[in-house]
Amino acid sequence: MFRKLLTLISLLVVVAMLAACGGGAAPTAAPAAPAATEAPAAPVVTEAPAAPAMPSQVEVFSWWTGGGEAAGLEAMIKVFAANYPDIEFINAAVAGGAGTNAKAVLASRLAAGDPPDSWQAHAGQEILGAYVAADQIEPLDSLFAEEGWNAVMPATLLPLISKDGKPYSVPVNIHRANVLWTNPALLAEVGVTVPTTWDEFFAACGKIEAAGKICLSMGETWTAQHLMEVVLLGALGPDKYSALWDGTGDWASPDVTAALETYAKVLTHTNADAASLTWQDASKLVANGDAAFNIMGDWADGYFSGTAAGGNLGLVPNEGYGWASPPGTDGVFQFLSDSFTLAKNAPHPDGAMAWLKTAGSKAGQEAFNPVKGSICARTDCDKTLFNAYLQTAMADWATDTVVGSLTHGVTANPTWATEITTALGLFLGDKDVAGFQSALVAAAAAYPN
Ligand code: GAL
Repeated sequence: MFRKLLTLISLLVVVAMLAACGGGAAPTAAPAAPAATEAPAAPVVTEAPAAPAMPSQVEVFSWWTGGGEAAGLEAMIKVFAANYPDIEFINAAVAGGAGTNAKAVLASRLAAGDPPDSWQAHAGQEILGAYVAADQIEPLDSLFAEEGWNAVMPATLLPLISKDGKPYSVPVNIHRANVLWTNPALLAEVGVTVPTTWDEFFAACGKIEAAGKICLSMGETWTAQHLMEVVLLGALGPDKYSALWDGTGDWASPDVTAALETYAKVLTHTNADAASLTWQDASKLVANGDAAFNIMGDWADGYFSGTAAGGNLGLVPNEGYGWASPPGTDGVFQFLSDSFTLAKNAPHPDGAMAWLKTAGSKAGQEAFNPVKGSICARTDCDKTLFNAYLQTAMADWATDTVVGSLTHGVTANPTWATEITTALGLFLGDKDVAGFQSALVAAAAAYPN
């Protein structure tokens, strides 16, 4: 009995040792073994059902989060949701007027190879000199042909989104940059009529400031740049203004010096806290009657007239606020156009195409623009959907001389535009016209389009 037990124990020891040996051999043998045993269990097919569970999506990137802007985007998203109920819309908007923050976020996402499916981009150099040049977006010629957009988008606009005859974005609107917004009640109270020259403007400021009000409200740096381009346009006229951007103009000319001096003088009639205000804050100063004037693009119309429920001011055009061409710019439409792109290697190309179809559609643009404070990029929208201000914008767009906006991407490639912004930042501090002009001359020479 004891021998049997010993034999059994010896046997067990041998088995254990063999097992241990097997374990020792495992490092080399192991890879083969699991593959052989697990393969049947893991019919790769079982992983496939996970894919359909992924919702169909589109991630759309913009800077429309504020008054007027967010409401416009929401109106377009509603049209999208009705057309494509199965596609989840991911609103990746980053706050900050004129895309000051959003463009930085977008740049780091693009650098990291993590593009949103579609992003907001301005027609002109912002698209051609940046995203197309860097091969970050897809041409959309097939989509334009399918949707018949070549016939309904303005012939003046198509070259500003196209390279080698192929369009690279879908324009949703036309905005006007050169608008002088007014508070009609305040002007009446202080006995001022809307100025048509800068000298009239300075005279008006005397009366307005004597009444304890701000003459011209302004916000953060990009709004100061917006004001600068409007003053340059008014002082130089459309031909000399446009020549500054196409390489035929002279940034060092006495005309530009005079325009910058006018600009420096205009700045002396703005609010001291400008640097800490958004464009909406500055518009609100006019709406409240704290300021008589503001120079801003017509997204301000969306903010003035939009519903309070949408974070807007709910004013009646021509009553709660008025508008005019800023001094020297009558008959000139300084334009910009928001458009949407298709990312190269978009994570959801089908979702992106669905979004772009909505953005370019008549229904999408008719929902978006009356709320956004812009007119349709398309030429066939129903005019009766638009308020009194926007109807004047439509008429002017059809007849005025058209020039591009610097601050909103049309006239200068982003590197050049950034140099100008940097120089302006210094100028806002030191008010040195000669130094500013030299920096502008150098920027134009270093980074032409
Ligand atoms: C512009 C943009 C407009 C409006 C504005 C203020 O650059 O084109 O749509 O959003 O900025 O944020």
